[in-house]
Amino acid sequence: MKGLILSGGAGTRLRPITNTSAKQLVPVANKPILFYGLEAMREAGIDEVGIVVGDTHAEVEAAVGDGRRFGLRVTFIRQTAPLGLAHAVLIAEDYLGHEPFVMYLGDNLLKDGIVPFVEYFKSSAPDALILLQHVPDPQAYGVAEIVEGRVVRLVEKPAAPRSDLALVGVYLFTSKVFESVRAISPSARGELEITDAIQHMVDRGLQVEPRVVTGWWKDTGKLEDMLEANRLILGTLERDVRGETIDCSIEGPVAIEAGSRLTRCTVRGPVTIGHGCELTDAFVGPYTAIYHGVVVDHAEIEHSIILADSRISGLNARVCDSLIGKDVTICRAEGRPLAYRFMVGDSSRIGVV
Ligand code: G1P
Repeated sequence: MKGLILSGGAGTRLRPITNTSAKQLVPVANKPILFYGLEAMREAGIDEVGIVVGDTHAEVEAAVGDGRRFGLRVTFIRQTAPLGLAHAVLIAEDYLGHEPFVMYLGDNLLKDGIVPFVEYFKSSAPDALILLQHVPDPQAYGVAEIVEGRVVRLVEKPAAPRSDLALVGVYLFTSKVFESVRAISPSARGELEITDAIQHMVDRGLQVEPRVVTGWWKDTGKLEDMLEANRLILGTLERDVRGETIDCSIEGPVAIEAGSRLTRCTVRGPVTIGHGCELTDAFVGPYTAIYHGVVVDHAEIEHSIILADSRISGLNARVCDSLIGKDVTICRAEGRPLAYRFMVGDSSRIGVV
């Protein structure tokens, strides 16, 4: 079996972060989201993976390389426009050939991985296996209607969902899917929807089996989901302090990589801090992930994700529930007039007190 990971898409719900980088490379608990998918493939015994890439291809290719460090052989497949998930399958046909494959959306995270689904698919060989989960907001997803254990209808983001079963972004297919992706037309949002292709398989009388995923699943397309995924993964963190700590109070599960230095800080886990960070007179509260090269002084941060090389300094209030991009400076403005001074990218969100 081969793997197909989708790492294109514009990531509009995560602007401005996605104005300059791929959403699949945002680190959750200090590891790019995409890497969790690659590891899940390897764990399921898949060693050949195609990654569909779009405008951010150079960054994704640089981060993944040839895949060797994940124990994978990776091939990049270029999608020149974000024309939908079924379109991504279509352009991967030459790469996939006649082999069955697992398709994995590069911004999805599944706690328990995909091993049992891949094993079942190999041994029972249905035409497709779809993963589902009960959600409170099914209208935000593809929704499945199941009658007596059989898939009868799949609708992409319905206004009036007929069930609360969302399609998880992991699908297992045989090569019979290609006929269906070729048969469907673009949806109202102008994309070839994989949901419609699976409906087409059902309509052709092919065997499409549903499985309900019980462990947590997150589509990290929005800030709130990204923070929740960060929280869920940090919830499993173990204490591992390798960096230097001087006059600090390090409480609970805290990981600090070598090459970082903390002076007069309180860190209350779960918290992970990358390498090359310098924290001074700071408080870092639960569910915070600070990536490499970050500087924090005279500031407090909690329940947030801070990307590489940013600086947070001299704030009177705590930074909470935030996703701070790369090389960002948030600091106390000096001098008069006493004013907020911003240089902020398009589609940014700022809350001041
Ligand atoms: C896509 C699929 C949707 C699925 C979701 C899972 O939505 O179209 O059916 O439920 O992924 O993450 P998108 O993220 O493109 O809005």
